[in-house]
Amino acid sequence: MEKEMVSRECEKDTLILAIESSCDETAASVVRNGRQVLSNVISSQIELHKLYGGVVPEIASRKHIEKINQVIEQALADAKVTLDDLDAVGVTYGPGLVGALLVGVAEAKAISYAKKLPLVGVHHIEGHVSANYIEHPDLEPPFLCLIVSGGHTHLVIVEDYGKFKILGRTRDDAAGEAFDKVARAIGLGYPGGPKIDKLSREGNSDAIVFPKGKIEGAPYDFSFSGVKSAVLNYLNQAKMQGREVPAADLAASFQKSVVEVLVEHTMLAAKDYNMKKVAMAGGVASNEHLRAAMKQACDENGYQLYYPSPIFCTDNAAMIGVAAYYEYLKGTRHGWDLNAVPNLKLGER
Ligand code: KG4
Ligand code: ZN
Repeated sequence: MEKEMVSRECEKDTLILAIESSCDETAASVVRNGRQVLSNVISSQIELHKLYGGVVPEIASRKHIEKINQVIEQALADAKVTLDDLDAVGVTYGPGLVGALLVGVAEAKAISYAKKLPLVGVHHIEGHVSANYIEHPDLEPPFLCLIVSGGHTHLVIVEDYGKFKILGRTRDDAAGEAFDKVARAIGLGYPGGPKIDKLSREGNSDAIVFPKGKIEGAPYDFSFSGVKSAVLNYLNQAKMQGREVPAADLAASFQKSVVEVLVEHTMLAAKDYNMKKVAMAGGVASNEHLRAAMKQACDENGYQLYYPSPIFCTDNAAMIGVAAYYEYLKGTRHGWDLNAVPNLKLGER
């Protein structure tokens, strides 16, 4: 009898409401048992920020406040659950824009206080990595992961859920940041990554040779400011000479240089650390050329490649729900003093 009760207890579903508001997406999701996404609501502010060519922090915070309750209600409704069905609340508490993060953190604290639910703070990048678990039930640590977002570029070994060994990082711009800056320079607007991705399909990626950022003595580190400056110099020079530069060729050539470095460094790390499973995470992981090039390299080397669908690559709360679940299992609980930490380091609590 007792045994039966125990096993029933083990079979009980764990439902987590997750909230993400670190940048310009207000998002909420309900995730069951860490891997099943019951709802994934994302209210994007991109249209607003486009007018300014990038995210305006003050506007982001205000919009989060306006949208967050609605987004959470929708997430609960889509999942066909109420606050009473939940087991915990997960929330991104860093890194990100402090005012934006605070909206999600305050909301999560209010719900968990009112409903007496455990509160689990999540690192945004741990969320991005965890997005891989949603559609790949077979994927479990350890594996190598290339994290390429608008604010971060890291090459890590995911040793266990939420446990990372950082092999390399960018020394300057993040990969997504480089995409956004180059896109702005060629007049494509914000956010630039998806636009460069699309335009590149019509261009010749061998038209212009841009430098590949390598750091002497740090084979897994990245640097994208060099290629970004090279693109800007190329554009200026062409302008001075009165030459027309085909934007598609420029976009494709820039993208090729960035993608080659990302793939080369990832393959080197996989070989050096004998990793057979390679994953990608973050907004830039939805880049078609990067996905294709990484797939080819992994196939050639006999590695299994994982990446999330584009909707789970860019900011969303489902990935936060997945990460929160594994933190919850490990016993991570935050108190009412949980605060937004804009520069939270990966692996810090
Ligand atoms: O992960 P994410 O949504 O937000 C951060 O945590 O930063 O990443 C956003 C970044 C932006 O820089 C955006 O331009 C880039 O990801 N991005 C892309 C693509 N889709 C989004 N970059 C290249 N190709 C894409 N298809
Ligand atoms: Zn992100």
